[in-house]
Amino acid sequence: MNIQTSNPPLLTANELSKSFGGLRAVKNAHIQVKAGSITGLIGPNGAGKTTLFNLLSNFIRPDAGEVIFDGQPIHPLSPHEIALQGCVRTFQVARVLSRLTVLENMLLATQKQTGENFMQVWLKQKQIRQEERENQARALDILESVGLAAKAYDYAGALSGGQRKLLEIARALMTRPKLILLDEPAAGVNPTLIGQICEHIVNWNQQGISFLIIEHNMDVIMSLCSHIWVLAEGTNLADGTPEEIQNNPDVLEAYLGD
Ligand SMILES: Nc1ncnc2c1ncn2[C@@H]1O[C@H](COP(=O)(O)OP(=O)(O)OP(=O)(O)O)[C@@H](O)[C@H]1O
Ligand SMILES: [Mg+2]
Repeated sequence: MNIQTSNPPLLTANELSKSFGGLRAVKNAHIQVKAGSITGLIGPNGAGKTTLFNLLSNFIRPDAGEVIFDGQPIHPLSPHEIALQGCVRTFQVARVLSRLTVLENMLLATQKQTGENFMQVWLKQKQIRQEERENQARALDILESVGLAAKAYDYAGALSGGQRKLLEIARALMTRPKLILLDEPAAGVNPTLIGQICEHIVNWNQQGISFLIIEHNMDVIMSLCSHIWVLAEGTNLADGTPEEIQNNPDVLEAYLGD
């Protein structure tokens, strides 16, 4: 897309490793996401892609290696703090709260988890109500932009799988992120909705949001991404432009052996 080679990396991970018991799910992996880019992360089932996402967002701690987001190491931060710094992620199986409404799911993203006590809340009631009104307006705007406004007051549990994925991405936008990590945004989604999700991603990218996308749907990856990283058996296999990746014999072999 609009990647410029001079752009500094927004996210860099070096020498990341993670084992589960005897299984080395990620081995000395590295990855980079340039500011302003839509970057892809592909690899056969079980290659370690989701585990790498979990390490990039500190949902799990690495055995070794480091992750730098926007110039700062993320290891001292919780996933919530990382989100507040501007790096948010979605999950392979969308995690929406079924018994809350779509709008309530959106508003959860803006909830402060620390720094509020009773006195502060009491003293700042007016400001808090104002913030709540602003958040609600913003949530409704974002829902409108993704075509979910009519569902705002429905339970999230009533949404289709594709709509849940869309809600997760919409919720990620609430915190005004710099980078969104998407774990299989097209999986289980009907082709029409996949097309719409891709259009939204391009749109948000043009507004300045960078993306790192895991996806098995090669049409999605090849059409959206300017740069693609390939993992196989927990380790880097290749990286390059869509064309380079499509013509890389090692990549083809890794997939055929899947
Ligand atoms: N919490 C866990 N405990 C034990 N093993 C795990 C755990 N999470 C992942 N694994 C294992 O680590 C390996 C990598 O899994 P991961 O989910 O990262 O792969 P993936 O590339 O995302 O695969 P897929 O494309 O199927 O989603 C797999 O062998 C998986 O079974
Ligand atoms: Mg996965």
